[in-house]
Amino acid sequence: MTTWTLDSWRNHPAKQQPTYPDAAKLAAQEDRLRAYPPLVFAGEARRLKAALAQVAEGKAIVLQGGDCAESFQDFTANIIRDTFRVLLQMAVVLTFGSSMPVVKIGRMAGQFAKPRSSDNETIDGVTLPSYRGDIVNGPEFTPEARIPDPARMEFGYFQSAGTLNLLRAFASGGYADLHEVHRWNLGFVARSPLADRYQDLAHRIDETLRFMAACGINSASTPQIRETDFYTSHEALLLPYEQALTRIDSLTNDPYACSAHFLWIGDRTRQPDGAHVEFLRGVKNPLGMKVGPTTTAEDLLRICDTLNPANEAGRLTLIARMGAEKVEKMLSPLVRAIQKEGRKVVWLCDPMHGNTTTTSNGYKTRSFDAILSEVRRFFDVHAAEGSWAGGVHVEMTGQPVTECVGGAHMLTEADLAKRYETFVDPRLNAEQSLELAFLVAEELKRRRAPMQAAAAE
Ligand code: PEP
Ligand code: CO
Repeated sequence: MTTWTLDSWRNHPAKQQPTYPDAAKLAAQEDRLRAYPPLVFAGEARRLKAALAQVAEGKAIVLQGGDCAESFQDFTANIIRDTFRVLLQMAVVLTFGSSMPVVKIGRMAGQFAKPRSSDNETIDGVTLPSYRGDIVNGPEFTPEARIPDPARMEFGYFQSAGTLNLLRAFASGGYADLHEVHRWNLGFVARSPLADRYQDLAHRIDETLRFMAACGINSASTPQIRETDFYTSHEALLLPYEQALTRIDSLTNDPYACSAHFLWIGDRTRQPDGAHVEFLRGVKNPLGMKVGPTTTAEDLLRICDTLNPANEAGRLTLIARMGAEKVEKMLSPLVRAIQKEGRKVVWLCDPMHGNTTTTSNGYKTRSFDAILSEVRRFFDVHAAEGSWAGGVHVEMTGQPVTECVGGAHMLTEADLAKRYETFVDPRLNAEQSLELAFLVAEELKRRRAPMQAAAAE
């Protein structure tokens, strides 16, 4: 293999990159970003890698979620808080259901760049470059907005810093204290059919906390009760940005991508010889890779060799996104190959990207039933192959949007127009997210029961 350098990716074919009209402006922007402080620290990325190693060994699970695309327009404390709050609720449901630690990772604080199926978009006979996420160009359908502008990287950096600052405060400043578990249920979810189910669980947690306090274990004595680890992640798509934010860790002398703790490679950019695989193989962060229906076992093993040559648990997470109808057929041989070769990976289910459809009135949507079905089948495939189903990766928001059909409120196609706000893909709303968490918790409980019985024998 050739030597890796910070910019060796530039010698490989790079898909999904914008064509910036002004190369000098781009270079000047990259220089500025290179001088800015890192957004995350290498030690945090190592901590996440260690947590993911526990998942690879079947001792913990992952909850990864957030917007398909964060937007510059939706940069408010309430929106960040609401997404964080729903992730906390989901995590509590999963922890309680599975009796296992849940590794929490947001698609937040940097999830701006989007791969597109077409370079151009045509509306009423007018063709313009596609929108590629706010860090590249604007969503408005005008020639000016669609010109890629390097200055957007700087907005992206500062918005990520602001978001991360608030997330860190929420995670360690008292908001995530388990004694607040009832209060996370305020707002939209409190009026939903799932509210009772969640309140019931919250009461049981209260009871447990009172029992523990009587034994001398409380928020003051035990930081795990009052704070939580929350990590950030995004698709490492825009390589000039990722390169500019990569730093050499002073403790280990290793390069770390400091734009987020966890970076993943998308389904459209996972070519074994491509620029994205080349760039990410050299940074020491825990990495993800989307695994879609066109992935062959051969390519998968080859990419494992490239991204995780030492076969370290926690380094590589495979995020399967097959579509409900294809899971058994497409995922089984891949899981089998990984098991056979003894590769230590985390497997997550992304039940969103293989289940996208377009309604007759032109909305991109996803059916909640198809999403649940893909999650169930993902668990079944892993059970059949003797592999650990490590958790879920979802597109969701804390807002009461109407983007995916189905769920407890039985949203229909006719409801989509009410609050359809996503800039790219349809997200689960707060209530649908919680419902999904209950389902995953049930699956985990069901599978854990025989394991625990076996361990007790
Ligand atoms: C995404 O996660 O938003 C995405 C584009 O996914 P994929 O690469 O799996 O299509
Ligand atoms: Co998406």
